[in-house]
Amino acid sequence: MDFALTEEQQMIQDAAREFAQNEIAPVAAEFDLSGEFPSETIRQAGELGFMGIEIPEEYGGSGLDSICYVLMMMEISAADAAHGTIVSVNNSLFGVPLLEFGTEEQKQKFLRPVSSGEVNGAYALTEPQSGSDAATMRARAVRAADGSTYTLNGKKAWITSGPVARYMVVFTQTSDSDGNELGISAFVIDTEEPGFVQGKTEPKLGIRASATCEIELEDYVCPAANRIGEEGQGFKIALTVLDAGRVGVAAQAVGIAQAAYDAAVEYSRERKAFGSAIGSFQAIQGKIADMKMRIDASRLLTLQAAWAKQAAKTSGARNTLNSSIAKLYASETAMFVTHQALQIHGGMGYSKELPLERYFRDARITEIYEGTSEILRMVIGRTETGLR
Ligand code: CAA
Repeated sequence: MDFALTEEQQMIQDAAREFAQNEIAPVAAEFDLSGEFPSETIRQAGELGFMGIEIPEEYGGSGLDSICYVLMMMEISAADAAHGTIVSVNNSLFGVPLLEFGTEEQKQKFLRPVSSGEVNGAYALTEPQSGSDAATMRARAVRAADGSTYTLNGKKAWITSGPVARYMVVFTQTSDSDGNELGISAFVIDTEEPGFVQGKTEPKLGIRASATCEIELEDYVCPAANRIGEEGQGFKIALTVLDAGRVGVAAQAVGIAQAAYDAAVEYSRERKAFGSAIGSFQAIQGKIADMKMRIDASRLLTLQAAWAKQAAKTSGARNTLNSSIAKLYASETAMFVTHQALQIHGGMGYSKELPLERYFRDARITEIYEGTSEILRMVIGRTETGLR
């Protein structure tokens, strides 16, 4: 076993850190406050090849491995978690279904522009009444009698990058024109076509610069050539994609936790109370030890999940257990660490003059999206016991 990064992985980590610290970190607070989408830095991320790290070069990506992906996600998210969210959607939630289940034509037409960062992608699974219980979605695609198109109707909610995405992977119940049920199917849609309606944007607690909205499909006519995979295969596609996406969220959580930890250690060395640096007090040292231990464990679990994800590309094995454990542990670590780091900063941690309160708010979503902690515990428990 070798814990060292390869030269290529080290290079990506360095490049991502330099970009994140020089370009993203200085503007993060401003975009958090305004809630505006950070188009310029996202364009730069595309130029650096960060919008499709694992996507082969012939489809607009960088053709690198899953370890490179999580290293990049950790660095970007340490500077700003909202950027991490936007980047992860293009890489995972949009990139994986197209790469793994798309046709050559779909890859050239839809994957290439999203992976190269020319346009944004999005992933529409959740609906106003169905989140964790994703299979109960109501959106529907009805196949035309001649089989050439589907007509899509329904509402989707909490769509990350929804307000800015050009292309979107959408999941719907499916039936033929006689009303026979065909199961859940996946489609890629163009948001510039008639029938796509952007709904309300969400005013969020954290990751505020990542744009999130509801969408509505009103008699959206989708060519059958834009169906991803087979009719009825959509739910498996959705869950396979989430297995990949959860590794990215774990990396995002590690990045947020690391940023909060670094700030807390530095502050504990500088801040004086009762005649000493507060970092010399056992109460603070205990917090630092607990934070460090959990971050290291989260990083290792995330790298292990990324390694398993990479191995699964050739073995075809499912990466459900590793990705669930990594996301669950890293997201709870991000909450723990940002809480403790803010506490170490005292009143200053509560002020918008420092990024601690932003880290704290941003960490919260990692316990919710792409599988809540409760769902992940259920998935791990079911896998381990073999019981339901
Ligand atoms: N990969 C592939 N297939 C899988 C799978 C996986 N990880 N997990 C289950 N399946 C298959 C099963 O084998 C089963 O197939 P068969 O019917 O052929 O046996 C089928 O899918 C149904 O599985 P279950 O019976 O286990 O389904 P369930 O309904 O009991 O549980 C669930 C499914 C685990 C709860 C799942 O619905 C889930 O993960 N829910 C959470 C949804 C989620 O994460 N939503 C986040 C939305 S994305 C987002 O956050 C938006 C954003 O923009 C960031």
